[in-house]
Amino acid sequence: MTIDPRGKTRAAPSWHQFPDDSCKWIEERIMELARYTDPKLGGYTRLAFTNEDRLAREVVASFMKDIGMEVRVDPAGNIIGKTNGKQADAPVIIAGSHIDTVKEGGRFDGIAGVISAIEAVRCFQLGNIATQHPIEVVVFTSEEPNEFGISTVGSRAMTGTLDKRLLVTLKNKDGLSLGEAIDFAGGDAKIISQAARKSGDILAYLELHIEQGPILENMGIPIGVVTGIAGISCGQVTVLGCADHAGTTSMNVRKDALVAAAESIQALERIGQRKSLKDTVATIGKMENFPNAANVVPGKVIMQTDIRSTQLKFVERAEQAFQEELRKISMRRAVNIFFNRLSIGPPATMDDWITRLIEESCQDCGTLYHLMPSGAGHDASHVSEITKAGMIFVPSKGGKSHCPEEWTDFRDIALGAHILAATILKIDERAKEVERNG
Ligand code: HGY
Ligand code: MN
Ligand code: MN
Repeated sequence: MTIDPRGKTRAAPSWHQFPDDSCKWIEERIMELARYTDPKLGGYTRLAFTNEDRLAREVVASFMKDIGMEVRVDPAGNIIGKTNGKQADAPVIIAGSHIDTVKEGGRFDGIAGVISAIEAVRCFQLGNIATQHPIEVVVFTSEEPNEFGISTVGSRAMTGTLDKRLLVTLKNKDGLSLGEAIDFAGGDAKIISQAARKSGDILAYLELHIEQGPILENMGIPIGVVTGIAGISCGQVTVLGCADHAGTTSMNVRKDALVAAAESIQALERIGQRKSLKDTVATIGKMENFPNAANVVPGKVIMQTDIRSTQLKFVERAEQAFQEELRKISMRRAVNIFFNRLSIGPPATMDDWITRLIEESCQDCGTLYHLMPSGAGHDASHVSEITKAGMIFVPSKGGKSHCPEEWTDFRDIALGAHILAATILKIDERAKEVERNG
């Protein structure tokens, strides 16, 4: 008999028995990790490559060791817990996510997926379930955009798509290089190419993640089955005006970089609202104003754009329209405005076979679920380039995320972890279905 973590009892599916204490086990570990946060900042802040991050890495590694997993750290700093299967040399099934947060973020983004993955392995052990394939739980290094201006560092390295030159060229404001930061986190940047996995090494990748939006909660449905992940284009806008005295410079001769930046931000918002660009969203969330003094007309502004859509063509159209608007503002205000794209990650489609197995697990467990795209980026986007990948969403209270109010009920996470465990078992048992088709 499995106890539905949401309190209802259902007929036990034939092939597995989940522990009744999943909720409590998950809650204890998520709340333990939440303690590792930068005390100087609000919310929950555990930026990649910081002391908090390094301490939390040790704690999450101890959660894996507590249930008998072998733990290693790869050259990219990815933490990899492993249990051997009956066929030790078979391709692995990986479940994972990240534990770094955004600045003043929440306690569940990424962390829920890592703890659920460890819980899935615990379910197998408590149920004496031995899989054919080895199982790995992976904590990816720096999923969030970091101070070096790049995100998803660990999953890019695992898929062999991290440009090694960036290890030296990307530096933070103290002059530390990305490579040195990876070494600080426990990796070994000089051999980072050894973190890359060959696609044959991995049978499948699964990631449980909080939805970070309101859809599941509004529908009253506890599980989301992700069909695809939005593509993201990150760009930098530099506005060069003319710094001047705020008291003696008349309004009609100013070249105010900050006012031009404000017009640019509103122009991007209008582009993101265009019906013709369907599900496109556009944000400027980071901005630096120079010299940033109350009595000086701003001379320079640097800001970052974040444009997303499940269709790359809409991302590109939005970016082109924005550059057109920048040209008009530049002419109107006699300031120079430069736009350069920093990175573009194409949309990722989740694997049909995996998605169907997640759906089957929900059906077997009598759980309602909803097929949906992800507007947020995830490590799964990169991992899907080298293996079959799927994602499971659990609801976000009020749809909030990337803020201290981020919350997901532990019963929902436990249910998600059970769906994750059930799906891993299906992948393990039915791998032949895809090994035959290649
Ligand atoms: O920005 C994102 O979508 C993710 O949280 N890194
Ligand atoms: Mn995030
Ligand atoms: Mn995340």
